[in-house]
Amino acid sequence: MTLTIEEMAAFCKRKGFVYPTAEIYGGLAGFWDFGPLGVELKNNIKRQWWKTFVHNRTDVFGIDGAIITNKKVWEASGHAANFADLMLISKKTKIKYRADQFIADKLGINTEGITAAEVNKLVKEHKLLADNGEEFEEVKPFNLMFETAVGPSQGSQNIAYLRPETAQSIFINFNLVADNARAKLPFGIAQVGKAFRNEISPRDFLFRSREFDLMEIEYFIHPDKLQDCPFFADVKDLKIQVLTAEQQEHKKQHAEVSFHYLVDTSLASPWHAYWLACFYQWFLELGLKKENLRLREHMKEELAHYAGACFDFEYKFPFGWKELQGDADRTQYDLTKHGEMSGKPMVMYDEESKQKIVPYVAAEPAQGVERLFLAILFDAYEDDKKRENIVLHLHPSLAPVHVGVFPLVNKLKDKAQEVFIGLQKQFVCQYDKSGSIGRRYARADEMGVPLCITVDFETLEDHSVTVRDRDSTKQIRVPLATLSGVIAQFFAGAPLLSLGKEVSVQVVKEE
Ligand code: GAP
Repeated sequence: MTLTIEEMAAFCKRKGFVYPTAEIYGGLAGFWDFGPLGVELKNNIKRQWWKTFVHNRTDVFGIDGAIITNKKVWEASGHAANFADLMLISKKTKIKYRADQFIADKLGINTEGITAAEVNKLVKEHKLLADNGEEFEEVKPFNLMFETAVGPSQGSQNIAYLRPETAQSIFINFNLVADNARAKLPFGIAQVGKAFRNEISPRDFLFRSREFDLMEIEYFIHPDKLQDCPFFADVKDLKIQVLTAEQQEHKKQHAEVSFHYLVDTSLASPWHAYWLACFYQWFLELGLKKENLRLREHMKEELAHYAGACFDFEYKFPFGWKELQGDADRTQYDLTKHGEMSGKPMVMYDEESKQKIVPYVAAEPAQGVERLFLAILFDAYEDDKKRENIVLHLHPSLAPVHVGVFPLVNKLKDKAQEVFIGLQKQFVCQYDKSGSIGRRYARADEMGVPLCITVDFETLEDHSVTVRDRDSTKQIRVPLATLSGVIAQFFAGAPLLSLGKEVSVQVVKEE
């Protein structure tokens, strides 16, 4: 990976993936707008997630909850009291820093799970000062939830919160969904939607924003059946780089292990390990590079208030290994708390014991869309020196545009338009007639378009077109009669060269 995060932000703006919001008014830190290519990539990521983890399974049901939430939800969940980051504030001018990041940047140490007492001690010991030379007050917790008032009158009774995680909409609807879906344990509830966190220092482009999209599953099992995962055998031998809490304590490097190692050493239950493996497979299928992915076990002191155990998938961003996805064993915490606070128990009837039980959240894969969007772009990006242009090697299922359609020369525009309109019904297509054919291929490569179709003079005689593969630049000749079928087969996974006769790249005379 050669790009910095700033270079990636510049590329995203130039190509229409992501813009700083309200830039004409000076922007708004931590908020971003998605351009024509960005919205397609983002929607494709969400669509693939939903297809893989909801539609392709029989044990996961989807919901879509409200963003603005009754404050009692967050009191019961513990977020009102605990969802905070430590903040350092300069004494006079009140400049604010997120304490763990500030100390990590200044001292180059790992500050995951750092406590207030440790922050105060390090600030004193190292005489750390704000950037303007001021001393700091004692470190304070800062709650990250955005507060709003619902309705025309303002008062404490009208306070509500913009949800900082989608998980709570799943927990508060648990009884209804279980009933409607006639669900039996084990099963999951999935949701994709906006989340908001009033981050003290949003930074690193999309990585730490104040508004982002979450894709979350809460997977519920019988509380006595953590060890009984019938699917684990299928994934147990998959290998992944893992950094355990113990390795972190002893400042050791991650090591490659199988998923069954996590279970054999009791670091994760079979259910938890199974879900981690499912997501690892999914990341690899989407084209993330194995060497840029690892699992990191949370240290005891950094576990969220609800978690029994937690692993983060980390991605090797240009600014270091950072959290891509969090996946906690969330125990019975949330359903128990909502049952207690609402007076409506969140329970299921267990046929075996003839008792009501509180289901147990064995895994909670919680994926921020924007972080995955970034990781996908970093792994897809290649500055191809031979072609002298950038190529985005996006997985075809994620590509914002499926097919580029070009007339070789302007005289062929009517035929090319006819091909374009025919394909548009089935695929996301882009018609491009300006500049040399080489320039048009280069533009399509930078947008990650997997296939480009050129209508040439021969098309008028043999009713065929050339189809060019973005990654290899190889071309095949395809009859118009079978074109949409060939493209569909390519998007279903067939290599382009297996779908037609390779032809040599034509030398094109400029008009
Ligand atoms: N329900 C559990 C939960 O929300 P989390 O680890 O706090 O867990 C889940 O967040 C994921 O949300 C993270 O792994 C990351 O992908 C994404 N995320 C969290 N904070 C973010 C932020 N400020 N900006 C962008 N993505 C964020």
